[in-house]
Amino acid sequence: MTTVLHTPERVGTLADRCAAILADRGVDPTDVTPEPVSGAVAALELADARIPPRYRHALADHPQVTTWADEVALAGRPGPSGTRGIACGPSLLIAGPTGTGKTYQAYGAVRSLLAAGVRLRWEAITTPDLYARLRPRPGHDPERDLASLARSPLLILDDLGAAKQSEWTEELTYRLINRRYNDMLPTLITTNLPTDALRDAVGDRVASRLAEMTTRVVLTGRDRRRHPAA
Ligand SMILES: Nc1ncnc2c1ncn2[C@@H]1O[C@H](COP(=O)(O)OP(=O)(O)OP(=O)(O)O)[C@@H](O)[C@H]1O
Ligand SMILES: [Mg+2]
Repeated sequence: MTTVLHTPERVGTLADRCAAILADRGVDPTDVTPEPVSGAVAALELADARIPPRYRHALADHPQVTTWADEVALAGRPGPSGTRGIACGPSLLIAGPTGTGKTYQAYGAVRSLLAAGVRLRWEAITTPDLYARLRPRPGHDPERDLASLARSPLLILDDLGAAKQSEWTEELTYRLINRRYNDMLPTLITTNLPTDALRDAVGDRVASRLAEMTTRVVLTGRDRRRHPAA
């Protein structure tokens, strides 16, 4: 497994910008009250119910994914109950061939945050499901769904670039990513595509934002579905 990172300054810069935003809001990110262990366990149990059974015991063990979870937890701000909630923070782009564990690492990261006692509202969706959900149909307001995903404190956007692209999908992807980019909301994105192919699939404006807002983690190795001991 190899990891390819952008320049280290980028994470530092983002951390500085987060710190400045929190300072503007009068929040000291180090001033956190630890969540009682029972609260973290309860949150993990509740979250488990929303995690697909396949990934319910996922453990984020990639060093860059655990580092990301630590950074997001540290940037968390105390909520009304004193527990930390997600504020702004860095995002990850987990890339690699089929079956190398991208979705596993993404759900594992959510589980690490919950286990650390971070108060967490999160959403997860694959891009093919995203486009299906937002397709105009009678009695359904796609703008509401888009806003809810755009504002979610943490979003797993799985399989970016996997769906057949059109102007409509490109615009939706742009609107979702751009809002999360502007608000600096932590987003875990997975893709099977190498950088150039991803840019071709999602368009240059999305690719440019991803280059700035994410650290790229590349998973390698064999397809774990075909080789479970990989
Ligand atoms: N670190 C790991 N330890 C144990 N099992 C793992 C690990 N990583 C992945 N797996 C298992 O390997 C299988 C494939 O993982 P996953 O679905 O995350 O791959 P993927 O890279 O997202 O694939 P795709 O690109 O097709 O979506 C799953 O059954 C998953 O639970
Ligand atoms: Mg996957």
